[in-house]
Amino acid sequence: MKTYRIASIPGDGIGKEVIAAGVEVLQTLAKLESFQLDFEHFDWSSARYLKTGAYIPEGGLEKLKTFDAIFFGAVGSPDVPDHISLWGLRLPICQGFDQYANVRPSRVLPGVTSPLKNGEAIDWVIIRENSEGEYSGSGGRVHRGLPEEIATETSVFTRVGVERIHRFAFELARTRKRKLLTLVTKSNAQRHGMVLWDEIFYEVAKMYPDVKTDRMLVDAVTTRMVLKPESLDTIVASNLHADILSDLAAALSGSLGIAPTANLNPERKFPSMFEPIHGSAFDITGKGVANPIATFWTAAMMLEHLREPKAAARLMKAIERTTEEQVFTPDLGGVHDTRAVTNAVKRAL
Ligand code: IPM
Ligand code: MG
Repeated sequence: MKTYRIASIPGDGIGKEVIAAGVEVLQTLAKLESFQLDFEHFDWSSARYLKTGAYIPEGGLEKLKTFDAIFFGAVGSPDVPDHISLWGLRLPICQGFDQYANVRPSRVLPGVTSPLKNGEAIDWVIIRENSEGEYSGSGGRVHRGLPEEIATETSVFTRVGVERIHRFAFELARTRKRKLLTLVTKSNAQRHGMVLWDEIFYEVAKMYPDVKTDRMLVDAVTTRMVLKPESLDTIVASNLHADILSDLAAALSGSLGIAPTANLNPERKFPSMFEPIHGSAFDITGKGVANPIATFWTAAMMLEHLREPKAAARLMKAIERTTEEQVFTPDLGGVHDTRAVTNAVKRAL
């Protein structure tokens, strides 16, 4: 029987609750399908950092490299500054494993109410550049505490980095019904990196004559998402722009609690990482009411990547059956808890 080795990193906050639910659902599914999932759990978290001084122990990434995929919960704790936790755990994995393509689908699942009148028109995939741009880490701080203090945060756009994400976006857009790819930019104000970003997009576009393209400034695309959701399909944006747009997309499709992500290394030189986008949500941690749907949808994306499309589709159907019956946690206006939603998806499987 085919066996996949999955590293699970629940991390912080509700990450622990939703990853436990995700593992349970995936194991139920594996039993019904013809493959096996071998999970190994990693305690990499803010608690570990506070105890030992490191999120990732020595040799950790080397070990992680040997897995077929990574199933990640969330990182972030009230006891650790956010930039420390992010750069201590999630970014070393994304950047170290060259997971440069971040894929964020959004759609209004059956039974879910969008805040938009015509929310059912939402069927988008946001492709986020995940290795450079505004998250490059380039910059510095000098004259600390003095009136002359300076901090710089440099966005880095490289030809290699930009070209590969645009190619990835065109390849993905090509597989979708509408074959429409929107370039998100801010090259009017940011005249170096973003201009390169646009130029390379149009160079790559020549190789994909079957894909329709358009170009929007990032501020303008927010209004288009709200007012004309039907006019968008696949969207490619820089690291920060896509970060912001994907939260908007999640809210417009009903809740941050349903939105999934894949951090992909498309060449498969390294394992890819799959995570819900909601974060650690300390306000509801430990209450057992976290919405596990984002994690289940993320698990379906992981199965797609592992080339188990039938199992992925089966899981997606079970999720949709559950949302259709409105077995909802409070973020979706329901009264159910994580356990009840997990049980419902298992039953639907
Ligand atoms: C996301 C998150 C992260 C990001 C946070 C946790 C740093 O918001 O994955 O969208 O900004 O990348
Ligand atoms: Mg975000």
